[in-house]
Amino acid sequence: MKYILISLCLLLSACATENITSDRLLYPYEPSVMCQGCHQETYEQYRNSMHSKSFSNPLFNVQYFKEMVPRALKNPKLAADARKCLKCHAPVVYMNFSGLVSTPQQAAKYESGVTCDFCHTLAGHAENGDYVQNPSGKKQGPLTSVSDLFNPANSQHAEYSGYLPMAEFCESCHSATNHLGMGVESTFNEWSKSRYGQNDDTCQGCHMNRNGYLKKGVAEYDSGVAAHMSIGNTDIEQKIHKRLHNHSFPGGHSSNQLEGALVVQFRVGSRSPDVQGRFPFRIHINNERSGHKIPSGSSALRFMWVTVTAMADNGTMFPVLLLNSKRNGATDYAVAGASPDDTAILGNDVPPGARIYRSVLVDAKGRQSLFYPDATRHVFDNRLKATEIRNEGYELQVPPNYSGQITLSATISYRIAPSSFATNAQVADFKPVVIASQQKKISFGLYAELSESSEILVSGVRW
Ligand code: HEC
Ligand code: HEC
Ligand code: HEC
Ligand code: HEC
Ligand code: HEC
Repeated sequence: MKYILISLCLLLSACATENITSDRLLYPYEPSVMCQGCHQETYEQYRNSMHSKSFSNPLFNVQYFKEMVPRALKNPKLAADARKCLKCHAPVVYMNFSGLVSTPQQAAKYESGVTCDFCHTLAGHAENGDYVQNPSGKKQGPLTSVSDLFNPANSQHAEYSGYLPMAEFCESCHSATNHLGMGVESTFNEWSKSRYGQNDDTCQGCHMNRNGYLKKGVAEYDSGVAAHMSIGNTDIEQKIHKRLHNHSFPGGHSSNQLEGALVVQFRVGSRSPDVQGRFPFRIHINNERSGHKIPSGSSALRFMWVTVTAMADNGTMFPVLLLNSKRNGATDYAVAGASPDDTAILGNDVPPGARIYRSVLVDAKGRQSLFYPDATRHVFDNRLKATEIRNEGYELQVPPNYSGQITLSATISYRIAPSSFATNAQVADFKPVVIASQQKKISFGLYAELSESSEILVSGVRW
């Protein structure tokens, strides 16, 4: 192994020898900072990504150290489950530390996060993070040019892999079941059932292009060199690649990625309220951008909700009722506040009565659980599938014979986790993100008659 380390250090100018010659390292993954010298842009994108923070981020850290570890210390059977967390969240720690990591100090000896070298030496997989690894072997990548560049470093340093550009590469971690075999991270499966999966429009094609999603169906990539190298002050010329892959991997933690991921439109058919002032209308919510369900990933934590309001020109608010919800106090997971654990879990995050999109896991006692090792049953899932257009019915209530102009507003908001989670864990609360919003003006009574000459009685903001 020493020989490998020495030859790698000769090869790689930015070698941080003190980190990788430790005897403890069974698997000599190179630290990501070692790639920085030559792959600066990629390194910057990676450093800000959730892959580099998959262990240190407060959500994981709290669930792991405050919920998982105490249980695993009491019940040795759960130790295997706790180790599994690190398989995906800190794979280099997992590969090098055979016992239960129960303190942050134990993990600190190794680089946490999903590291550069970890991904670029991955050679195969099964779900639940069962991967086939070739630590610190030649860097696997999509460039076919690496071996025939005049630069002698290249052929020793890197080689072409047909595996990294495949969605199955992401599957190894983005598909997880808990100890009962229940699917808890299902992004890959959601994708494979969708139109994108059927066409093999890969995860990389959206998440590693410049924008993080397709613009009008097109992936736009950065171009340029994949590495910078120099001898003294002289740069070694590198091939210009038409397509470079962005490594920031935007997802639920990125407001840029979320904003605009859905499109909401009003569908207003009826010409005027009925004699009691009731006026039904619909909204369509289009999952245009996401290649899987939305929310996806850690679906026990994530949720979205819809608020619809109606305001007259003078500022008066009129009630808007969500149709298709269970009445008389029956449990309805699709409506905020209508299931027994909503008070404790959702708190004031979502206005009561609002449509909510989520996946609900319950524990052995039938209580909703945000901690998937405890989940015994999957009781509900109304998240929006890839390319789905969801149709929701509402009813506006105005005074009988009302005359005037009303602005309808619809907003869809997303939360990475409920604020109750942040309070319990004593971490900073997560900001909700507005994914989509739309307004429409409608006119009733005299106002409508005034605009009768125009084809559409209900005049609105264009969408
Ligand atoms: C989560 C896994 C993952 C991590 C972490 C990761 N990469 Fe990559 N990288 C990929 C994949 C996948 C591709 C190829 C995508 C394709 O072809 O569709 C790639 C492509 C590349 C390429 C080829 C050039 C290009 O842009 O396509 C280089 C060089 C590279 N990565 C370097 C790095 C470095 C350096 C780091 C850390 C700073 C890093 N990668 C971290 C998965 C990863
Ligand atoms: C001394 C400079 C240097 C360092 C340090 C370095 N690389 Fe590279 N790397 C290169 C060069 C040069 C290429 C070839 C670029 C090309 O062909 O356009 C390359 C190519 C790659 C590729 C592309 C392989 C392919 O076939 O697509 C990957 C992946 C990669 N490096 C990963 C890493 C990782 C991970 C690290 C850190 C552990 C790292 N590199 C450190 C110089 C370096
Ligand atoms: C070794 C395991 C592993 C592999 C391989 C992997 N991921 Fe991840 N990924 C994770 C973990 C763990 C997280 C959670 C990070 C967090 O929020 O703590 C994550 C998070 C993400 C996120 C969410 C980022 C955000 O803003 O919340 C996206 C998007 C993502 N990965 C895409 C990909 C894609 C695309 C691939 C394949 C090219 C891939 N991942 C391969 C483990 C992996
Ligand atoms: C057609 C483009 C597209 C494809 C294909 C795609 N994604 Fe996404 N992904 C998105 C968009 C847009 C978002 C942000 C909205 C959302 O959360 O769904 C996202 C969000 C995510 C998230 C964060 C979800 C959350 O709510 O926490 C993860 C993780 C992720 N993607 C991983 C993947 C993986 C793994 C694949 C392949 C199996 C994949 N994506 C395929 C566009 C895509
Ligand atoms: C098979 C791989 C895998 C295993 C095993 C795994 N996770 Fe994850 N975890 C992921 C991925 C991928 C994501 C990112 C999903 C997303 O962005 O929505 C994630 C996200 C999370 C999040 C949300 C983090 C955030 O930043 O929003 C928490 C908390 C979490 N995992 C806890 C755990 C715990 C605790 C365990 C062990 C009991 C565990 N995970 C085991 C792959 C895994």
